[in-house]
Amino acid sequence: MTLDGKRILLIVSGGIAAYKCLEAIRLLRRRGVAVRCILTRGGAQFVTPLSLAALSENRVHEDLFSLTDEHEMGHIQLSRAADLVVVAPASADILAKMASGLASGLATTVLLATDKPVMAAPAMNVRMWEHPSTQANIKTLSARGVRFIGPVEGDMACGEFGMGRLVEPEALVSAIEDFFQRQGRLQGRAALVTSGPTHEAIDPVRYIANRSSGKQGHAIAQALADMGAQTTLVSGPTHQPDPAGVSVVHVQSAREMLAACEDALPVDVAVAAAAVSDWRLSEPAASKIKKDAGKPRLELIENPDILASLGEAGNRRPKLVVGFAAETENVIDNGAAKRQRKGCDWIIANDVSPDSGTFGGEVNTVHLITTDGVDSWPTLSKVQVARRLAVRIANALDPTQDPTPGIGA
Ligand code: C5P
Repeated sequence: MTLDGKRILLIVSGGIAAYKCLEAIRLLRRRGVAVRCILTRGGAQFVTPLSLAALSENRVHEDLFSLTDEHEMGHIQLSRAADLVVVAPASADILAKMASGLASGLATTVLLATDKPVMAAPAMNVRMWEHPSTQANIKTLSARGVRFIGPVEGDMACGEFGMGRLVEPEALVSAIEDFFQRQGRLQGRAALVTSGPTHEAIDPVRYIANRSSGKQGHAIAQALADMGAQTTLVSGPTHQPDPAGVSVVHVQSAREMLAACEDALPVDVAVAAAAVSDWRLSEPAASKIKKDAGKPRLELIENPDILASLGEAGNRRPKLVVGFAAETENVIDNGAAKRQRKGCDWIIANDVSPDSGTFGGEVNTVHLITTDGVDSWPTLSKVQVARRLAVRIANALDPTQDPTPGIGA
């Protein structure tokens, strides 16, 4: 793949592995990538600004308070004038600063200010890598969308052996290539995602709801938009921020969610990740139900099934309709039955039993059920599940781009 014209901001932090980024810059330049470097104080102990400048053919930025730099290209602009920010090597220190939002130098300030995708290639001693603090930071950053490449296992400069080596320059460059290759794969496609719970009014102050956090649905909308799809997210009430580059419609109830979904048609793919309330009150009270009026009788009626109606939308039916099946037992069998019943193409069945940590948690263990069978994925962060699903969707919508079969896959 050609990377001609792509712009990478490379942040080189402290670590003996910094020498490998010199070769990575050379490989990127050879592929037509414009590389601009930020060198941290730690990084400058291992490679010189001169080598980075010579290989990147660009000036190297080191100082947050440099008047010349701020005049020519301020730190905010630096964070925006790139298609991808790569931190390589990413030391334990810079990862900790990123996770806690510190902006103590140019690199960390730029990382806090950027609205661009960030990739990090960690490199550190095995014990530092395995330390619970580092692992917690990786988890935090990964849930926020930072893409990690490596580390790998091997001999360390300190004489120890284990996990913590920076990936080789070729592997870093191929991860970057992979990123850009995926990015445009849903260009020209429209996607609809539902996410979060719904709130069904009992009276003006009370409602029926559920424990859905919206994390998985929002991550799916973000992943589809990152791959270039024009994405509409219809979200029930959640605490999740609106994903960047996604058009978000905020709704409360199932009926509002259905109406917003119908407005968003036609789309190429619809992913129903919302935990829609199956029931609503037949007649919500117009004013607050008073306790002294006695025990209220709540008469429930069934809500519309949004997924099923997308599956039955006739000539407006999305080419690919994907539903979720949150199950606490017989996850795969129940999921497969739901796929048939709801008229959708794929079901993502996941275990939401209380000890699975799925509801509100950062990870998900899912089984993708299609006409061809079941593909069980390892436990992944919700962001990783979303990215993997987005790639599968792109493959299904455009099988010529991928050797694996289409919508059946
Ligand atoms: O029937 P169940 O709620 O388990 O089905 C789950 C799937 O159906 C999810 O994809 C969910 O978003 C969707 N659904 C819906 N409208 C409903 C109920 C569920 O879209 N009223």
